[in-house]
Amino acid sequence: MAGETFIRFENVGLTYDLYLDKTNNLKEYLINKLTKRRPVAKSMEKVEALKNINIEFKQGERIGIIGRNGAGKSTMLKVISGIYKPTAGRLVVNGTIQPLIEIGAGFDPEFTGRENIYLNGYMLGFSKEQIKRKEAEIIEFAELGEFIDVPVKYYSSGMSVRLAFTIATSIEPEILAFDEMLAAGDIEFLNKAKARMDELINKAKMLILVSHDLSMISALCTKVLVVHQGQICFIGTSEEAIQYYINRGYNT
Ligand SMILES: Nc1ncnc2c1ncn2[C@@H]1O[C@H](COP(=O)(O)OP(=O)(O)OP(=O)(O)O)[C@@H](O)[C@H]1O
Ligand SMILES: [Mg+2]
Repeated sequence: MAGETFIRFENVGLTYDLYLDKTNNLKEYLINKLTKRRPVAKSMEKVEALKNINIEFKQGERIGIIGRNGAGKSTMLKVISGIYKPTAGRLVVNGTIQPLIEIGAGFDPEFTGRENIYLNGYMLGFSKEQIKRKEAEIIEFAELGEFIDVPVKYYSSGMSVRLAFTIATSIEPEILAFDEMLAAGDIEFLNKAKARMDELINKAKMLILVSHDLSMISALCTKVLVVHQGQICFIGTSEEAIQYYINRGYNT
């Protein structure tokens, strides 16, 4: 994409209708989009997950987002990555973006690992040839061996996580957005995964990381937002933001 990479929130709000909008994962979202299916209106209960957000993320920034459970962090990432449209205000994104939000969300358990590589690859916008070029590397990194031709429903959770993580990190977007990415997996794979993430982060023009892991935030982020009840209540260096977060008791 041409020009500087940036993301600009202009008075962005997002209100969930508890029954109208229940697109919970990328797969559902894509199916709804492809089939032009509209969720049926049942009720009108509202949750105001984001309120009047105004901020600009610039090229080169490594943004961390922290806050209590339910503060609106994941919603913010979903809005950034286009999974949800703001219900108020405007969001401008200049740059290609690959959200790593829900690991394995795009897996079909009836398909083999190899078939899921293709399924996910298409979802991420790759052509068959592009996926073919990545296939061997993905299988190797995920350490699946012969299991690659076994349906995913027979995988251990560790195997699923390894495959999902490897697929998700096999593309190189300008904007990298992670939501609690490395919560699962065994320690050995975790170290390997961290190295792969570092490589991706170094190549990316912008990083947005949502995490409860404050040491990860402070190691990777240069600018950190504290989100509380749908609003940004603090912006600073990772040190300042973590201090604020702890002082407010948001970590408890
Ligand atoms: N699909 C949805 N439909 C309705 N309400 C939702 C949906 N997703 C989130 N919410 C609500 O929106 C608010 C913000 O949720 P969000 O998932 O963005 O929080 P979070 O900061 O990511 O929390 P956590 O740290 O637990 O991941 C919460 O009140 C939550 O219950
Ligand atoms: Mg979340």
